[in-house]
Amino acid sequence: MAGKGLAVITGGSSGIGYQLARIAVEEGHALVICAHGEELEQAAEQLRRLGGEVEAVRADLSTRQGVEALWAHLEGREIELFFANAGLALGDPFVEQRWEDIAERIDLNVKQTTSMIHRVGRVMRVQGRGRILVTGSIAGQVPGPYNAVYNATKAYVNGLAWGLSDEFRETGVTITCLMPGPVDTPIYDKGLKGTLLHDMPKRDAAMVAREGWDAMMAGKVDVVPGPESKLVSLFSGVTPKAITTRLHELGAKRRE
Ligand SMILES: NC(=O)c1ccc[n+]([C@@H]2O[C@H](COP(=O)([O-])OP(=O)(O)OC[C@H]3O[C@@H](n4cnc5c(N)ncnc54)[C@H](OP(=O)(O)O)[C@@H]3O)[C@@H](O)[C@H]2O)c1
Repeated sequence: MAGKGLAVITGGSSGIGYQLARIAVEEGHALVICAHGEELEQAAEQLRRLGGEVEAVRADLSTRQGVEALWAHLEGREIELFFANAGLALGDPFVEQRWEDIAERIDLNVKQTTSMIHRVGRVMRVQGRGRILVTGSIAGQVPGPYNAVYNATKAYVNGLAWGLSDEFRETGVTITCLMPGPVDTPIYDKGLKGTLLHDMPKRDAAMVAREGWDAMMAGKVDVVPGPESKLVSLFSGVTPKAITTRLHELGAKRRE
């Protein structure tokens, strides 16, 4: 039975978000999960079968109306844990992408993610406690040809979390940035089909979620799950851009 306060997870219907939701249930938190596809209710049902007290809010978090709908659902409630996790990639050459798709990624990954952190930050500051986990990416540390908008949005998310983790010091609120490398989730089917990144072996989403959860609970500024991704992250700052750019192109450019 849930007894440890409310956990709210955006993008909780699949991938990393679903695995974070599973841990929240196992740890005894009541849960609100949010996503905009029809798989959400099925995910909520699976989590209930694990013993969770789970509410599902179906909303498009790339829009202000969607964020308002989630917030209306949470109105007046204390929030113990908040996971700003929903996000989407977008492969293919930049000028061949539809502007509507680019704008949707920026609205979801950047604008509305920031708006939700702003709101939950205020709620938690009043409470004098709370933990936030933001899903950034090591993609935000390297140039991202053929997924450039996504990488740029993740650079923003990483940077926002780093800055806020310091600002929130002494408020009782912590913010941690989860920065995975490639993880085995449906995100590659949605935005990167036909690429090496889509087909290569990737880290298990449950392991990534566990590392993110533990880092958040320890109040860390950030965490890069897995030894390979830790190495990439470590060397991304000192490797010449000419090399990191070519490596990214190799992974993200659609093969003929
Ligand atoms: N997989 C990786 O290699 C990797 C690496 C680094 C960082 N990340 C980040 O991890 C986070 C989770 O992605 P994932 O890999 O776990 O992929 P995923 O399985 O596709 O999960 C994305 C989640 O976000 C939800 N979502 C997408 N668009 C939404 C919208 N407009 N409104 C509300 N919810 C929306 C999805 O549900 P619906 O589509 O049904 O709405 C789903 O629940 C993302 O921020 C991603 O950038 C992933």
